[in-house]
Amino acid sequence: MKKATLKIDAKHVTADIDPRLYGSFIEHLGRAVYGGLYQPGHAGADEDGFRTDVLALVKELDVPVVRYPGGNFVSGYNWEDGVGDVSARPARLDLAWSAVERNTVGLQEFQRWLDKAGAGLMYAVNLGTRGVDEARNIVEYANHPGGTYYSDLRKKHGREKPYAIKTWCLGNEMDGPWQIGAKTAYEYGRLAAECAKVMKWVDNSIELVACGSSGAFMPTFGAWEAEVLEHTYEHADYLSLHSYHENKAGDTESYLTKNLDMDDFIKSVLKICDDVKAKKGLNKTMMLSFDEWNVWYHSLESDAKIPRWGSEPPARLEDIYNFEDALVVGGSLITLIKNAGRVKIACLAQLINVIAPIMTDPVLGAWKQTIFYPYLHASRFGRGRAVHVDVDSPKYDCKARTDVDCLDSVAVRNNEGNEITVFILNRNIHHDLETEIAIEGAKEVIEHIQMAGHDMKAVNSLKRQSVVPRRVPCAALENETLSVIIPKASWNVVRIKL
Ligand code: AHR
Repeated sequence: MKKATLKIDAKHVTADIDPRLYGSFIEHLGRAVYGGLYQPGHAGADEDGFRTDVLALVKELDVPVVRYPGGNFVSGYNWEDGVGDVSARPARLDLAWSAVERNTVGLQEFQRWLDKAGAGLMYAVNLGTRGVDEARNIVEYANHPGGTYYSDLRKKHGREKPYAIKTWCLGNEMDGPWQIGAKTAYEYGRLAAECAKVMKWVDNSIELVACGSSGAFMPTFGAWEAEVLEHTYEHADYLSLHSYHENKAGDTESYLTKNLDMDDFIKSVLKICDDVKAKKGLNKTMMLSFDEWNVWYHSLESDAKIPRWGSEPPARLEDIYNFEDALVVGGSLITLIKNAGRVKIACLAQLINVIAPIMTDPVLGAWKQTIFYPYLHASRFGRGRAVHVDVDSPKYDCKARTDVDCLDSVAVRNNEGNEITVFILNRNIHHDLETEIAIEGAKEVIEHIQMAGHDMKAVNSLKRQSVVPRRVPCAALENETLSVIIPKASWNVVRIKL
């Protein structure tokens, strides 16, 4: 059997991890809100119409922050439509997803849901059809204590205390031709800078995320970031990145290297941020918000056939994830943790029914997709400080890359400093690896959780949870070293007492 070694010095901390690295995203899209988190007629709905089975799964994931209300949706959204008397709210055409939005759920209801889920809110403002006026008004509505038109309107709507929303996105994917009100980098940069300035005048405690490119595939990638930062660097705190993985070619060996593309993407964006910083002679360091990432491709073909303007939002972007997708999500989490020094926020896109770890049956219960598990592990055991792992692994070549390490790994020391979790992906589909994990100061193995041995295309469903993690027996430590078999194509979480 081929061999690998992982060497870990728990003192070799690379970054403090912001808990928001394990954030998620909910958009008014398909069955994310209506029929997802909110379904008053469902047997498990609570007094507010929220599905308690969904809430239980969101709480299990311990989601720290949720980006809302979009996505492409936000670029045509009037936030005023979603506050106040529900019976008086207008139905509108949602041009982003060709649906009718009835506005039964808006900021008020969503915040109530978040309170029940124990998550924070990251709110995106509409810079597609709207601008400075809307942006300043919603900050006043949400965050100003009182005594002004919009803060008093909030009180009239039954919310005395400000929502105190800390993090705000300055629009969404404004470079994309599919975006309502898409803009050039100059147009967006100027608008975002003016909105940012005024939003911070209303509440100087807020943080702002400027839009980076919709993805590294955009023809304007790089030039967009440079120009947008030219205008917004002084005002924004984060620049956004979005990335969706796919395996349309059915090439698993290449697919399992997708997190390395994410890593390259992060490094390229950081270089641009730091160049602009140097050019402007500023001290402030731009942080990143990877506020949309996931696998998205299984549903594309069937979604193209959905008729426009259905009276209920149709099921859209309902990717059913398989085992290899779970491995790609695990790898992506490793990459995010490795870059936690600069990536402070990341949002798994999305959370419920729409390219999501949590799915709902309209009548029966909620269930966990394969990708639920690596996300759960990272959110639960990935809080604290990121620790470098020195990986010595066999390599392989595939269509996408050459000399790819079979093993990818990062570790996280918990905040108390008495436990370290090593996340390990074996992205090679042929070789089990006899692996030595040497950890300075390791006292005892707590557990080894593993997802392995499944068919790459195996999926879960409401009726059957086939792709699940299990605890595997592991040998005792010898001289602070653990010897384990890391099976081919596997996701591993090794927890150790220090
Ligand atoms: O998450 C689905 C869509 O992907 C979002 O609405 C958009 O921002 C991105 O293109």
